[in-house]
Amino acid sequence: MFDKRHISDKFSNSENIVVYHGDCLKLLSTIPDESLQLIVTSPPYNIGKEYEKRLKLEKYIEQQAAVIRECVRGLSPRGSICWQVGNYVDNGSIIPLDTVLYPIFTKLGLKMRNRIIWHFEHGLHCSRRFSGRYETIIWFTKSDNYVFNLDPVRVPQKYPGKKYFKGPNAGKHSCNPLGKNPGDFWVIPNVKSNHVEKTDHPCQFPVELIERLVLSMTNEKDWVFDPFLGTGTSIIAAVRHNRRGVGADVMPQYVGLARQRIEQEIAGTLRTRPMNQPVYDPIKAGNSLTVAPWTKTDNADQPLLIKEKKRRYVAR
Ligand SMILES: C[S@@+](CC[C@H](N)C(=O)[O-])C[C@H]1O[C@@H](n2cnc3c(N)ncnc32)[C@H](O)[C@@H]1O
Repeated sequence: MFDKRHISDKFSNSENIVVYHGDCLKLLSTIPDESLQLIVTSPPYNIGKEYEKRLKLEKYIEQQAAVIRECVRGLSPRGSICWQVGNYVDNGSIIPLDTVLYPIFTKLGLKMRNRIIWHFEHGLHCSRRFSGRYETIIWFTKSDNYVFNLDPVRVPQKYPGKKYFKGPNAGKHSCNPLGKNPGDFWVIPNVKSNHVEKTDHPCQFPVELIERLVLSMTNEKDWVFDPFLGTGTSIIAAVRHNRRGVGADVMPQYVGLARQRIEQEIAGTLRTRPMNQPVYDPIKAGNSLTVAPWTKTDNADQPLLIKEKKRRYVAR
């Protein structure tokens, strides 16, 4: 389709893949107005990861606003911006970052199309609040005439055999044979230690999460841009589906990882979790660790006690 072998370190419209080492604002200053079809990113959350300096929330919002403003300038009139964020935690109190970033987008004239809940099952165990098991993707468009291709991202119906029971179509199948709209609640495993995509980066997003956005919000050859590229996930999702990809990261080790993973993707050797694969169910898979030791009557005192009491009670 197009030459995917060359990874450039500078943006040019004649390139297909660009990995820039440096500040995203510097890269953005080289990107012409209205040339990017999808901007998708997971920015630093200001929680003190190794690649960020923890800032006062106001300062953080100011910095994000500067990047978002430049992204909007670079966004095509039919384009989309997806900002994937979690919570900022301040002395035990949580601030959902999408709520504080939302006004930045709307003041720039963008319209929100979805607030997607990304649910996953692994993460820190909290003891003073419920453990956080979702983050959000806030999706904005520049105009009402935006690209949205639903068919490539449809998912299997729950009841594909269902039929209309009355009306002119009575007896005919009522479901779309291509599948249903995936909705705005996405259950996709996050990249933790056992995930096939895990690298040394502390917070990658999974390729399948971005593939769904790329397929629905862009067409082939469009540019997909990630200002906070990390390990190159957004470019991998773009290249996989014949889109062009560009991104920046300030940390040399992540730029190296991104280049390496993109090269593996091009060579067809990058291992990723396939899109739409059902989430692993350890009980269905017969994983022995799902059996709690205290339910084995031969080695647990408590259930034996209960059983014994019940037997005595019944006997009386
Ligand atoms: C949450 S991570 C993104 C991870 C990425 N989504 C992935 O799948 O690997 C945020 C990244 O932004 C980078 N970063 C922080 N400030 C930056 C800046 N001003 N310009 C470019 N990258 C920056 C960090 O080094 C970090 O890798």
